[in-house]
Amino acid sequence: MSSAQRERMTSQSEGARPSIWDLTAEVPAAPRLTQDITADVCIIGAGMAGMSTAYELTRARRSVVVLDDGRIGGGETGRTTAHIASAFDDYYHEVERVHGEEAARLLGESFRAGVDRIEAIVKAESIDCDFTRLDGWWFAPPGRTDDVGLLRDEQDAARRVGFTDAGMADAWPLSGVIPGDDAAGVLRFPNQAQFHALRYLAGLADAITRAGGQLFSGAHVLEVRDGTDETPCTVRLAGGFTVRARDVVVATNTPINDRVTMHTKQAPYRTYVIAAKVPRDSVPLGLYWDTLETYHYVRLLHGRDEAALDHDVLIVGGEDHKTGQEDYENEHFAALERWTRARFPISDVIAQWSGQVMEPVDYVAFIGRNPGDTHVYIVTGDSGNGITHGAIAGLLLRDLVNGVDHRWATLFDPGRISLKTAPTWIEENANVAAQYVDLVTPGEVQTIDEVQPGQGRILRDGARKLAVYRDESGVVSVRSAVCTHLGCIVDFNAAEKTWDCPCHGSRFTTEGNVINGPAVIGLAEVEREARKP
Ligand code: FES
Repeated sequence: MSSAQRERMTSQSEGARPSIWDLTAEVPAAPRLTQDITADVCIIGAGMAGMSTAYELTRARRSVVVLDDGRIGGGETGRTTAHIASAFDDYYHEVERVHGEEAARLLGESFRAGVDRIEAIVKAESIDCDFTRLDGWWFAPPGRTDDVGLLRDEQDAARRVGFTDAGMADAWPLSGVIPGDDAAGVLRFPNQAQFHALRYLAGLADAITRAGGQLFSGAHVLEVRDGTDETPCTVRLAGGFTVRARDVVVATNTPINDRVTMHTKQAPYRTYVIAAKVPRDSVPLGLYWDTLETYHYVRLLHGRDEAALDHDVLIVGGEDHKTGQEDYENEHFAALERWTRARFPISDVIAQWSGQVMEPVDYVAFIGRNPGDTHVYIVTGDSGNGITHGAIAGLLLRDLVNGVDHRWATLFDPGRISLKTAPTWIEENANVAAQYVDLVTPGEVQTIDEVQPGQGRILRDGARKLAVYRDESGVVSVRSAVCTHLGCIVDFNAAEKTWDCPCHGSRFTTEGNVINGPAVIGLAEVEREARKP
């Protein structure tokens, strides 16, 4: 792909706020699909998981088509903080408890392999994406002495699963950086990494197309039908075109092909990020995570462009909450900034954005054959490890699609049932059931006139609920507030100016267009009479 075909992307498909990656990256502009096509494998989703899988399959000499309804990296990969961690977000000792020691050992192996694979691809394809190896530091905040035991448990488990050089540290890089505010305990995970997520995807796109893979943007998938050994899978798109392929990989953050099963096994959360200037060399390179329940994660932007600046850029994330179940989204940015200013010498905040994270109820991602299907595969349940999971998905799905057994397959099997996490499963699904109460509650406003510029509000209209948005110039858009997945009432996300579903995380633009599954159809239009105040 020539440089003339690249475009600087400052628009965004997942929300109103561009991420630091959106503001600093060039990504390939993929063409639109204009006819029916066939391929060995059709991959839906051009994020880290989809593009990694496409890369591995093209190297295995399979013909590959990648579809995305937005641009390459325009989904959650462009909203990440791009930690490439083999430290596990939900703790290896928890995985040992739920899945057993052998499963935890395989998980550790897969995470090390994922990080190594990204590094190998960067080198093999000469991808200029600021890939940097560095240490990870998991710290218990001051006064959180109980969390030190948790870190010690994790140290022991990490060593059992193969991280022989992970260990509690007497000193760490932020000691002295955070004034009078040292940690209660710190666990060091060597050999982590970071990169620029979109520059990496741009490199993968070049490699995939050089190897004969085809990438298409603006390709909104409506339906995926499984095939057999004799008949191909079919992928039906809005606009009428069809892709036929022996195998399909659905890599859309949460599966758009699965109506119910997978959405009872994971829950959607919003997570918030700020990027702020700090004095040059005032914060040492590293990945930093605290042990709080609503935890914080920190890294520096550190690449070729930043070397010319007179300051560094600190990226801090956290302040998560269940999607669609928060009335004051912008307050999470303010809380994150307060937390950061209390610990780091930041000046201007230059970007703030949010992303969506799918939390599996039993901690481990779902990568493998879609339950009930033969030739359809899914990748989901990334928790906070989406970048590493994407690389793991590439390795695992390459083999499964090619009919090769893989020792990680059982661990990541989407069809697994983990009885030890049944209470969490019940709790998450009770939370979903409770959201249906919104079908019978009053609206947030009585009339459209009450909706202020820049606001979205739910209006009751007889038996129906309407999602009403007034833009800054006063233009009003009205859609049904009923999510087209399984019928919950959507909630306005004031930070990203989207309608978010509190049940399984579907998200819609203010005009009602779907931007995040599991829904594949936009919010319904409303007849004129119903739109009157
Ligand atoms: Fe399932 Fe909305 S995402 S009902």
